[in-house]
Amino acid sequence: MNRQDKIKKLIDLREEAKLGGGKKKIEGQHAKGKLTARERIEILLDEGSFEEYDMFVTHRCRDFGLEKKKILGDGVITGHGTIDGRVVYVYSQDFTVLGGSLSETFAGKICKIMDQAMKVGAPVIGINDSGGARIQEGVQSLAGYADIFQRNILASGVIPQISAIFGPCAGGAVYSPALTDVIIMSEKTSYMFVTGPKVTKKVTGETISTEDLGGADIHSSKSGVAHFRADDEEEGLLIIRKLLEYLPQNNLEDPPVTECTDPIDRREDALNEIIPELSNQSYDVKDIIYTIVDNQEFLELHRHYAKNIVVGFAKFNGMPVGIVANQPNYLAGVLDIAASIKAARFVRFCDAFNVPLVTLVDVPGFLPGSSQEYGGIIVHGAKLLFAYGEATVPKVTVTLRKSYGGAHDVMSCKQLRGDINYAWPSAEIAVMGPQGAVEIIEGKKIAEIEDDEERQKFIKQKEDEYVDKFANPYEAARYGFIDDVIEPRNSRFRIVRALQTLMTKKDTNPPKKHSNIPL
Ligand code: HXC
Repeated sequence: MNRQDKIKKLIDLREEAKLGGGKKKIEGQHAKGKLTARERIEILLDEGSFEEYDMFVTHRCRDFGLEKKKILGDGVITGHGTIDGRVVYVYSQDFTVLGGSLSETFAGKICKIMDQAMKVGAPVIGINDSGGARIQEGVQSLAGYADIFQRNILASGVIPQISAIFGPCAGGAVYSPALTDVIIMSEKTSYMFVTGPKVTKKVTGETISTEDLGGADIHSSKSGVAHFRADDEEEGLLIIRKLLEYLPQNNLEDPPVTECTDPIDRREDALNEIIPELSNQSYDVKDIIYTIVDNQEFLELHRHYAKNIVVGFAKFNGMPVGIVANQPNYLAGVLDIAASIKAARFVRFCDAFNVPLVTLVDVPGFLPGSSQEYGGIIVHGAKLLFAYGEATVPKVTVTLRKSYGGAHDVMSCKQLRGDINYAWPSAEIAVMGPQGAVEIIEGKKIAEIEDDEERQKFIKQKEDEYVDKFANPYEAARYGFIDDVIEPRNSRFRIVRALQTLMTKKDTNPPKKHSNIPL
């Protein structure tokens, strides 16, 4: 073979590898409304930036006739590229090759890029579309999954790990995405479950479709497994690109600060009017978020899940922050199990990657009732408390209205190392709301008053006294628990300045192997 033939052979092999399972399988993939593994990488990365590894890897299985079925690359495309000029590592499972099933060599390719991403300190993005463990390889495949899981665990909190689910992801295979920071699922074409509909039917008698058991709708609204539900794969891939704008490359770096085109001293008079006169009336906290952040840009995670709390990324003066906000227009913004878990995970995600936290508080308390108590609201609420108390990133809190009881403490209060705690004049910081408080502390006297009118008058008078004393920010401010009461319309500027001041903040936790957060 002369030099030219050798080069031609390389080009031919590359062409062969690029075809994966072949034209027919690619057509099949498109017919299902799915992109191929390579098309996904093209959309995800900056044009021309992808460098592929291990294109010529093939499996080593000699059973069930698989020795005659070797496809270059073995069903997963791996390598690195850039997103907005920043390095990322990526793997993309190729369903056209043996259903994207995972073999020993397939897992080895993924582990290789994960190891390198850890050395370089760059995010890993995994695109999942696979029939799971390659059945012909048996235990080797299981070992391959465990090799990936172990790397997911060690990389957690060191480099951002993002999973896209664009096809099947079933059985133990779900646990790699579950160990990563963010999961994005595509509408209609993806599903995730530990046990599929057939086994579910056999074991429990329940008849359920794939979509209803583990589709994107279910996981983005009911289980909370998925952080994003994308209309299609392209949208899912663009969400990943957007997400990385708010994250550093690794835990030793700060998130990237960009130029801000939105005036930092922009006053918003409408904010002075946004809190309803009556404290039992609701409003949409997202209106406040969009008004105060740069250019009205807010990337919300878990948008359809536990809607009584809102979490997501935004920027103030070009600085990425994580926003956590109670949502008064859904369950009155109460904290329940799902909301506590959702917010706790987000707070830890931000803290792990040095993203400052801005918390907007309007919380009437924890949701009462046996279903919450039996479900363990005690430990789940403690997760959020723990997450805030453990976080060492800059923490700016603005109490908009209610901040009652245990929920007041949980929502980034001063004593949980809140750095700057502001309140709006509409804030009510107390053990509980006026009605509940008066019922308890004046209960006996109220019962003794026989005349209806007299009783109502007495209750009103006591409630007013309570409101004067506690349902305002000044009692907390008197103790220094609130650093300043601010005019709502100045919120953007005050938050920007707080964050700027805190940029050089240093705080640590005592040395330990790891904490024992109430899981
Ligand atoms: C080997 C597989 C495979 C697998 C699919 N294929 N899954 N090969 N191992 N796990 C092959 C098929 O034989 C077929 O090969 C090609 O991929 C496409 O599969 P189809 O069935 O034709 O595609 P489709 O109709 O779209 O169905 C997709 C599917 C189905 C729903 C994923 O293939 C399926 O149910 N596969 C098995 C899923 C499974 O039970 N996996 C094990 C889960 S347990 P040809 O040559 O015909 O094109 C697990 C444990 C992980 O993963 C443990 C980690 C700890």
